[in-house]
Amino acid sequence: YMVDKGNYRHFMEKEIYEQPEVISHSLAHYLDFANGTARKLDAPFDFAKIDRLAIAACGTAYLAGMIGKYWFERLARLPVDIDVASEFRYREMPLSSNDGALFISQSGETADTLASLRYCRQQGLKIGAVVNVRESTIARESDGTFPTLAGPEIGVASTKAFTCQLAVLASLAVRAAAERGHIDAERERELVRELSETPKLANHALKLAPQIEKLARELAHVKHVLYLGRDTSYPLALEGALKLKEISYIHAEGYAAGELKHGPIALIDENMPVVVIAPYDHIFEKTVSNMQEVAARGGKIILITDAKGAAHSTVATLDTIIVPDAPDIAAPIIYALPLQMLAYYTAVFMGTDVDQPRNLAKSVTVE
Ligand code: G6P
Repeated sequence: YMVDKGNYRHFMEKEIYEQPEVISHSLAHYLDFANGTARKLDAPFDFAKIDRLAIAACGTAYLAGMIGKYWFERLARLPVDIDVASEFRYREMPLSSNDGALFISQSGETADTLASLRYCRQQGLKIGAVVNVRESTIARESDGTFPTLAGPEIGVASTKAFTCQLAVLASLAVRAAAERGHIDAERERELVRELSETPKLANHALKLAPQIEKLARELAHVKHVLYLGRDTSYPLALEGALKLKEISYIHAEGYAAGELKHGPIALIDENMPVVVIAPYDHIFEKTVSNMQEVAARGGKIILITDAKGAAHSTVATLDTIIVPDAPDIAAPIIYALPLQMLAYYTAVFMGTDVDQPRNLAKSVTVE
């Protein structure tokens, strides 16, 4: 591919800004907006017949899979086991031929993910792969591929591939829910309509750039950052922390907000910013309690929420980033954007090599 940065400073910035468009392409491949249905696909396994889905992936793709688990289990009542591929391939988990196996990979060449795929092949499972590079080894060796239509991703830290993976997994979860009889046609239409709003909402979220850039100037001076979230915002907390450490080299950790008391609270002081990801959803009030615990110890909170969440939060924050109101199923995709931008602008401000961070590779093809 011949790809250039155009008017952007880095590929990562360009790829962040491409997201509304590529998410829209990915969704359109899986969803029939006119009919309000998730398309019947040439799937490697029958979602109605499998007892369980085993997912393995690495890095950011793994975190996409973690969010997928919430969707498949909640919407389709399909149990999901998810592992990082380097554990999956060695831990000899019980697998059955009634399980589906799903591998998620931008490059389609990650060594551990490929080895996990081959392991499942030996165990007789049907294999699906969510891949961005359609002519990759993982795509070739699977029984069926679910392409992400993100286009070539050059920045080592994954952005648009991640949100397209989420778009594909959400669409597949809706499909699985319909096939397994857990949603009726009306609910399917509603979910498809909600997902169809994602590109527009992503576009609005990108307008937060000036606020986030300003905040990044402060973040560039700290040594550690904690990210907290519940439900699908928990894997997002992991992803926000991963993104920050990858490109700014600031130590960052993601935690399930409910685990705060079980360790990370010991680290909270005025030098430890805490990024809280909390859409105004069924679990919002629980996260507010965690923010109170942080605030009581002098921790500085950066709250990423929506207008309702901002209105209902009773805790003083260092900054509140208000993303557009998003339906539950679209929220993880939308909330990924401010996290990417926060990492990006912090790294730019620190002067690191954003597209080629030290010690990291775009595709880890050796163990
Ligand atoms: C590397 C990249 C990450 C990526 C991971 C998995 O660590 O730096 O951005 O998420 O590999 O890569 P894959 O191509 O399998 O998605």
